[in-house]
Amino acid sequence: MPYDNAAPLLKQRVLVLGGAGYIGSTLVPMLLDNGARVHVIDRFFFGENILPAHPRLTHARNDSRLLTTAEMQGFDTLIDLAAISNDPAADRFSELTRAINYTARVRNAELAKAAGIQRYLLSSSCSVYGFNPLPITELTPVNPLTTYARANAEAEYDLMQLSTRHFHVTALRLGTVFGHSPRMRADLVVNAMTWSACRHRQVSVSGSGQQSRPLVHVRDAAAAAIAAIQAPAVLVSGGIYNVAAENITIGEVAAQVCRHVSQALGEPVKENFEGQNDARSYRVSSDLITSTLQWHPRHSIEQGINELLDRISAGLDLEQPRHHTLRWYEELHRNPHHHPQVRLNGKMLHV
Ligand SMILES: NC(=O)c1ccc[n+]([C@@H]2O[C@H](COP(=O)([O-])OP(=O)(O)OC[C@H]3O[C@@H](n4cnc5c(N)ncnc54)[C@H](O)[C@@H]3O)[C@@H](O)[C@H]2O)c1
Repeated sequence: MPYDNAAPLLKQRVLVLGGAGYIGSTLVPMLLDNGARVHVIDRFFFGENILPAHPRLTHARNDSRLLTTAEMQGFDTLIDLAAISNDPAADRFSELTRAINYTARVRNAELAKAAGIQRYLLSSSCSVYGFNPLPITELTPVNPLTTYARANAEAEYDLMQLSTRHFHVTALRLGTVFGHSPRMRADLVVNAMTWSACRHRQVSVSGSGQQSRPLVHVRDAAAAAIAAIQAPAVLVSGGIYNVAAENITIGEVAAQVCRHVSQALGEPVKENFEGQNDARSYRVSSDLITSTLQWHPRHSIEQGINELLDRISAGLDLEQPRHHTLRWYEELHRNPHHHPQVRLNGKMLHV
């Protein structure tokens, strides 16, 4: 019998690590709308005022590497989003990436299990597949090629070993996310191209633009997380799901951005094809999450572009360093005394 994936989360008590990031700041209000009680633990590297005030939301500033079972008490579900969240930042801070994206994730899952939390959801990435010319399903062997992808693949592997009848581990392998969120990221392809089109009236495409990527809107990524924690535990226990709304070439993304932005501004927007052809192309299937969890993406790339356009015309400035993950972490490293979030319990603790 199909289960009701529109049922509210009601009394679930959900702990979200890294809940004030790009995905978290969209997911947390959606969890609250579904009736959950939510506690966020985050370093708040991207700002303190990103989360809404809500009677069922509490938060604390802490580091995912320093948690104990005390912080895990009283929750049903742990969603782990705390991470160095892209390849360039992970290459620049490779040891920290391993400590946060691999070691701390596994340790926190162990603590959660010991504290009696029943469900653990990992926000992993399609980057674990590397670049594979064949259509990718969850059965395709992983082939992580970067520091970021390796930390995800190793975390997934170790976390799955922790799954039992009482502790249900699920991993979502997200495609590249796009769209507006309270913490904005301008280092993701649709967002970056939309900003460049608005600001410079041009969009850069590497090589011929024929390389394909899986994309998903941030609210659809959040909805996938909710579908996973709402589903009967037996259905998702030990499960790994790809989460992508569509596979599209970078050239097609650029063409869509140019079309919508030039319509909105009444001015031409140019595509610049630069550099060598990029052979790294991949397409993933999300049939498994659709058939198992009835997850259906609801937001198109066009919608994502248009909502960003609205925000940009209302004053959103994506040039600011805090909207660029690597640039912002570099800034926190260079000038720690200017940024109170680098201090934790009176001591400097870097990203
Ligand atoms: N956005 C995407 O396109 C995408 C795609 C695939 C997977 N993911 C994964 O989803 C997760 C969330 O991504 P995002 O886009 O929201 O990233 P993000 O960088 O916006 O958010 C990460 C959050 O974690 C916090 N954080 C970082 N290190 C911490 C630490 N040591 N302790 C406590 N908090 C810490 C940051 O302050 C931030 O709020 C990550 O695991 C990322 O790898 C994201």
